[in-house]
Amino acid sequence: MMMGSRFYLICLVVLCATGLAVPTQCLGRICLPEEHVALFIFGDSIIDAGNNNYINTTTVLQANVWPYGESYFKYPSGRASDGRLIPDFIAEYLKLPFIPPYLHPGYHRYTDGANFASAGAGALVETRRGLVIDLHTQFHYFEQMERVLRQKLGEAETRTLLSRAVYLISIGTNDYLVTFANSSTLQYSYSREEYVDMVIGNMTTVIKEIHKKGGRKFAFLNVEPVGCVPLAKAIKPEIGGACMEELTALVKLHNKALSHVLQILETQLKGFKYSHADLYTFVTERINDPLKYGFKEGKKGCCGSGSYRENLNCGKGTLTEEYELCGNPSEYVFFDAVHPTEKAYQQLAKLMWDGDLNVTWPYGIKALVAGHK
Ligand SMILES: *[C@@H]1O[C@H](CO)[C@@H](O)[C@H](O)[C@H]1NC(C)=O
Ligand SMILES: *[C@@H]1O[C@H](CO)[C@@H](O)[C@H](O)[C@H]1NC(C)=O
Ligand SMILES: *[C@@H]1O[C@H](CO)[C@@H](O)[C@H](O)[C@H]1NC(C)=O
Ligand SMILES: *[C@@H]1O[C@H](CO)[C@@H](O)[C@H](O)[C@H]1NC(C)=O
Repeated sequence: MMMGSRFYLICLVVLCATGLAVPTQCLGRICLPEEHVALFIFGDSIIDAGNNNYINTTTVLQANVWPYGESYFKYPSGRASDGRLIPDFIAEYLKLPFIPPYLHPGYHRYTDGANFASAGAGALVETRRGLVIDLHTQFHYFEQMERVLRQKLGEAETRTLLSRAVYLISIGTNDYLVTFANSSTLQYSYSREEYVDMVIGNMTTVIKEIHKKGGRKFAFLNVEPVGCVPLAKAIKPEIGGACMEELTALVKLHNKALSHVLQILETQLKGFKYSHADLYTFVTERINDPLKYGFKEGKKGCCGSGSYRENLNCGKGTLTEEYELCGNPSEYVFFDAVHPTEKAYQQLAKLMWDGDLNVTWPYGIKALVAGHK
C-alpha cells in the first residue's frame, strides 16, 4: 500500500519548536505540515478503497480480483475500477498519501484520515444488511478512530484536526438499486417520496453526528444515473439501449432532495461548509457524448458479460458465463457494469477540486480547504 511518510513525522516537541525546514504544527507529539488537512471518506463502492476485503460479504461486492486495478495499481486493491478512485486524486491534491481502508490491518495513521466506505452500502441499515458496512456503522468506526486519536493527540488537537479535515461522502445509489433487486424491500411499504426522505434523513443524521464531532468541511457526490448504467440492462433487459426510467425517477428525486437539504444544513449547522459534486450530470454527459470528453464508448462497460457488459461479473466469470475485458479502459466511461473508469474519476476529481461550476457548487474542495481555516 502507498503509505509514504512524507507528510507525517513524529518528533519531540522541543525539536518541532526549534523549527524544521517545512513549517510545522505539533499536535501533541505529532508534528504535521502547517497546511495539513486530513481526509475522511464515507459511502459506497464509488469511493471504497477495499474495506469489503475484510468483511464477510459476497464476491459481487468485492473488487479483489484481476483485472480490477490493472491500469494503475497492477493488482486488485479492492477498488471497484481499473485504477484510482476520486478519494485517491483528492488525497493527492491535499498532499496526502492514498488513504487505505479503515479495516486494513495495521492502519493507524489517522492523522492523514481514514476510508470507511463499503461497496454496496446504503444510508439505510436494511440495504444489503449483513453484507456491507452501512453508513451508521461507518460512523461508529469513525468514533472508534476518534477515541484513538484523542489518546494520541489530546482533546483540543483532535478537535483541530477534525475541524480542518475534509469529509467526502457518496451514498444512496444502493438504497435505490436494492428496491429493484429485491421485491420484499422497504420501498414497497412507502411512497417514492417517503423512501427518499428516509434515505436523506439517515444521511442527514450522520452528517450532524460528524458535525458534532467537529467536522465542518464536507464534499458530497450525488447519485449517479444508475438507471442508465450498463447494469440497468441486467435488471431490466427489455430496455435495450434505453434507460430504466423508474430508477432514474427515484435518483432524480434523491438528488433534488440532497441539494435542498445541504442548503438547509448550511444555515442550521455552525460553520458547516460543503462542496456538492453533480456526479449525475457528469456521468450522463459522458454516456451521451463520450467523444466530447475523450472517450470512445459511453454505454457499454469495459469488463463483464452481456452485449453492454451489463453483468457485474468482471474478473469473476464462470465456465458457463465468461467475462470479457476491453483492450483499453481509458476509452470507456464505465469499467464494469456500474463503476466508472479511472480516467472518468480523474476528470471528475479535477473538477471537484477546482470547483468547476458546471459540476461542483457552491465551492470546489480547494476553496473549501483554503477559505475556512
Ligand atoms: C465470517 O464467516 C465465517 C463463516 O461463516 C465465520 O466463521 C466468521 O466468524 C465470520 N467472520 C466475521 C468477522 O463475521
Ligand atoms: C430482501 O429484503 C429483505 C428485507 O429487507 C431481507 O430480509 C432479505 O434478506 C432480502 N433478500 C435478498 C435475497 O437479498
Ligand atoms: C432512517 O431509516 C430508518 C429505516 O432504516 C427509518 O425508520 C428512519 O425513520 C430513518 N430516519 C430518518 C431521520 O429519516
Ligand atoms: C461548462 O458548461 C458550458 C456550457 O455547456 C461549456 O461551454 C463550458 O465549456 C463548460 N466548462 C467546462 C470547464 O467544462
